[in-house]
Amino acid sequence: MKVKKAVIPAAGYGTRMLPITKAQPKEMVPVVHKPVIQYVVEEAYYSGIREILIITGKHKRAIEDHFDRGDLPKKEEYTEELERILDEVSIFFVRQKEQRGLGDAVKYAEAFVDDEPFALLLGDNITIPPCTEMLVNVFARYGGSVIAVERVPRERIPLHGIIKGSELDKGIYRIEDMIEKPRVEEAPSDLAVLGRYVLTPEIFDYLKNLKPGYGGEIQLTDALRDMAKEKDVYGMLYNGRRYDIGNKLEWLKANVEIALGDVELGREFKEWLANLR
Ligand code: G1P
Repeated sequence: MKVKKAVIPAAGYGTRMLPITKAQPKEMVPVVHKPVIQYVVEEAYYSGIREILIITGKHKRAIEDHFDRGDLPKKEEYTEELERILDEVSIFFVRQKEQRGLGDAVKYAEAFVDDEPFALLLGDNITIPPCTEMLVNVFARYGGSVIAVERVPRERIPLHGIIKGSELDKGIYRIEDMIEKPRVEEAPSDLAVLGRYVLTPEIFDYLKNLKPGYGGEIQLTDALRDMAKEKDVYGMLYNGRRYDIGNKLEWLKANVEIALGDVELGREFKEWLANLR
């Protein structure tokens, strides 16, 4: 079954990006020409998705305004691509009433998703090359939910969901267990969930009666762990670059790397960097 829908949770606080995020959503933090969430919407679009649900919350109105038609002339160079995407994609919004964790946010997508597989993209992450298209292809081949994972150094293990899996094919794992933000000693591997998923709608059954987990929040990782015990859930090793824009150093790196590859700014920026002392 083709993946036609995407869900983008964008309801979390941007505590690690304060004071930038004091009065604006972390998903609206700019990276070179665009706010982070525009990269995420584009990633969904270029993976063939045409219906997107963004889960927002308090103080997130700027996100809705960004994807509104706007008053800019249609041919404005910087908004042309976005306008074209908006012509083809329907974007819906729902507000998470209370911040109770990623798992709780995803529950708000149940009616939108209905009984179709869907891509889930965290709204404060950029992947280059886009990870979702790869996940969609793995889903088409294996037929079960697929979670993108990357190898992380020890010190980053406690920041992520970590999987335990056996390798089926090169870079494809059958997930046996998952732990949200484990201590280094209890981590079953160094394969960390990076914020891109293709899920079957059965995930909502596992989210339904889920008890709060790590940090007292409803954790998507816990629902996926329960699902993996009964259904086929796969891990896909992603070897590209992922930037967590909820983190200042990663945000700076994303700006530098994306600016260096930019047609308009790249050459001059590179020269300037080379001479920087
Ligand atoms: C969430 C997930 C975690 C995942 C991470 C990726 O955590 O719960 O499993 O590894 O995103 O960024 P958060 O970073 O929102 O605390």
